Amino acid sequence: MSLNIGDRITLTIHDIAFGGEGVGRLEQMVVFVPFVITGETVEAEITEVKKNFARAKLVRVVTASAEHRVQPACRYFGACGGCQYQHMDYAQQLRVKHKQISDLFERVGRISPDRVLPVLPCPEPYGYRNRIMIRSQWNGPAKKLEIGFIRTDNKFVEDIDECKIAEPALNEQIKEVRANPPPKGGIKVVLRVQPDNWEVPRDSFFQNNFFLLPKLVGTVRDFLQAGGARHLIDLYCGVGFFGIETADLVTSFVGVEYDQLAIAAARKNLEDRQISNGEFLAAKVEDVLPDLLQKFSAANTAVILDPPRKGCWPATLELLRATRPAQVIYVSCHPATMARDLNILCADGVFDLAQVQPLDMFPQTQHVECVADLRCKA
Ligand SMILES: C[S@@+](CC[C@H](N)C(=O)[O-])C[C@H]1O[C@@H](n2cnc3c(N)ncnc32)[C@H](O)[C@@H]1O
Repeated sequence: MSLNIGDRITLTIHDIAFGGEGVGRLEQMVVFVPFVITGETVEAEITEVKKNFARAKLVRVVTASAEHRVQPACRYFGACGGCQYQHMDYAQQLRVKHKQISDLFERVGRISPDRVLPVLPCPEPYGYRNRIMIRSQWNGPAKKLEIGFIRTDNKFVEDIDECKIAEPALNEQIKEVRANPPPKGGIKVVLRVQPDNWEVPRDSFFQNNFFLLPKLVGTVRDFLQAGGARHLIDLYCGVGFFGIETADLVTSFVGVEYDQLAIAAARKNLEDRQISNGEFLAAKVEDVLPDLLQKFSAANTAVILDPPRKGCWPATLELLRATRPAQVIYVSCHPATMARDLNILCADGVFDLAQVQPLDMFPQTQHVECVADLRCKA
């Protein structure tokens, strides 16, 4: 069957892929449609045709999911590119994310789905984000400055007055940005709510959901405690979050981060808490890890990896495979690169994946955080 852009089709959705698009089939062709739910029959219009798959925009839900379809809270949902799941009840979002992670880890990492624990929910499925990026773009035809988020089309800015997933304080800041608009075009403004009791420089990383932070810390602490290591190497440590939150569980720890201002803040965070068994290094992980791994006995060492979305350098993973610390705790907001890296660490049985705990740090969106507990096989 040949499909063309603009064709109207009717199809049934049998899965939700990473990224949030529903997956349907038309004879041999896989068709991706956003804003749908598994089991629904929908009418869609083809927008892109490739050799083995096509993309379509949702025109109409023919048979809606009686169980899981809900009214989106946000009036920009569907146009704004920020959220993918507001049309789905929250319990179903968690099930969808769990299946996506289990399927991905099985396919890419050959990890048994029974290692993936149920997704921990966020106590606040709306109003949770503590950091957002607002953009401005001059709309020539409308002679208007659009201030808001990138649209689903990835090209234009959707003008917004408020964001339902952002903390209320950020919605107040959006009003200020709109009252004093940035110059025409291409400007990005980061709005954030500072965490209590943490020094965080304006442009440094901090976890963007305060409501689920206790569970994130609890998961890392439980894994570390179960592993029983005495020394901790906290890689990609930002302002020292995990090292500081787990300092009481180890004899000594060292955090590594290349953002110099974040490391200055990490040292301050340490001092403020009068913690004396840890230190922070301003360096690239790949430059200092060989020496750090020499410093402590592998059998007593745990390594936390919390890399940026692109994951770890291959050389870093190879070094961990060669030096064999007793435990690696891998924290990630990007399950695809995480699965790739876990596959490398576990190849030839060097590490064994004990379990993966997903946490819904990003309700209503396609994103999910995962913490994996890897043990070195003797
Ligand atoms: C996902 S954040 C994690 C921060 C921290 N673990 C936390 O929970 O707040 C990743 C951090 O890695 C840092 N980073 C990225 N590449 C790095 C590298 N090659 N060496 C050291 N730090 C790096 C970034 O600056 C960022 O602070």
